[in-house]
Amino acid sequence: MPDRVRITDVAPRDGLQNEPNQIPTASKLRLIELLAASGVDEVEITSFVSPKWVPQLADAEDLAHQVRSLAESVAQITAGFPSRVRAAETLPVFSVLAPNKKGFERALALHDVKYFPLKIALFTAASEMFNKKNTNANIDESIEKFATIVPRALEAGMPIRFYVSCAVECPFAGHTEPSAVRTVVDKLLNLVPDDARAGIDIDLGDTIGVARPADIAALCAEHTDLLAQTTLHLHDTFGRATDCVRAALEMGVRSFDGAAAGLGGCPYASTPDKRAPGNIDCAALVRTVHDAGYETGVDLDALDEASSFARTLAVAT
Ligand code: HMG
Ligand code: MG
Repeated sequence: MPDRVRITDVAPRDGLQNEPNQIPTASKLRLIELLAASGVDEVEITSFVSPKWVPQLADAEDLAHQVRSLAESVAQITAGFPSRVRAAETLPVFSVLAPNKKGFERALALHDVKYFPLKIALFTAASEMFNKKNTNANIDESIEKFATIVPRALEAGMPIRFYVSCAVECPFAGHTEPSAVRTVVDKLLNLVPDDARAGIDIDLGDTIGVARPADIAALCAEHTDLLAQTTLHLHDTFGRATDCVRAALEMGVRSFDGAAAGLGGCPYASTPDKRAPGNIDCAALVRTVHDAGYETGVDLDALDEASSFARTLAVAT
């Protein structure tokens, strides 16, 4: 197993999507710039979901246009460098969420395979109840929606992430069996031609941050053959997320999501008495990975700067 661990910061999307006060687009852009400068491998910039369902991300097009301009400027500047540093090597991957064809079309309209290759994150869940609340569709209906999107994304050169939420527990239906997660993962992978399957990023989400290391070990054991392409997306309710990272590293996971300052949570995972918990703090994630003897491309001082800025955007909970 490689010693290099891939880090995605989802703060601009998952981190901010549940924030009650409208955050200016310019501030979201600043956060993305700071995260890009920190050396994370990927930044999840926004969601192309219904603005009625997630009002905080109603500025998705505007924001993504501005990130695209930034990427184009970097490409122009770096093209002139004799050292041949290229934009693709300078910038992180930029990704966006989409729940359906409409969301995909919005992403495709902004995607440029050379200067702004957007990665598309298609999301479903291993819990029927959660998926219905989150996307007004049952799991199979979600997957059916992705069937027409996947070939078009591949043809356009867009990398694909499949999110499976409630991979450990659902806020409404309780414990999720690892085998139930695997069933959903297999259905998703069946949408992809054989020769493209290994390039798919499978992201397993502990949506409400309840996992213990043993849960993560069991989840990984169910996906042993897929761990080289699996990302773990931890929320952190009980301060156990870093222990879960260590367990996942031992099992062979080499890709993790975190959010600057530990912001985040899915609005549709909140229950009347409990707001959905934040993601694992990206700096804590990176420190845990480094302490375990693995490398990332992240400059922790720069990430701390991004985290400080992120903290100014969120209301205290
Ligand atoms: P629906 O109401 O069933 O949608 O919602 P619909 O197809 O009936 O359309 C209703 C209206 O929405 C129409 O507009 C559509 O055009 C519009 P109207 O005619 O009424 O003006 N619409 C859209 N507009 C913009 N972009 C779109 C789009 N689709 C339809 N893509 C829908 C279904 C999926 C749209 C809705 O449920 C939705 O947007 N859900 C997203 C919820 C969400 O973003 N949750 C958080 C992300 S998931 C998460 O946080 C978990 C994760 O972090 C991993 C983990 O932690 O486990 C990823
Ligand atoms: Mg999440």
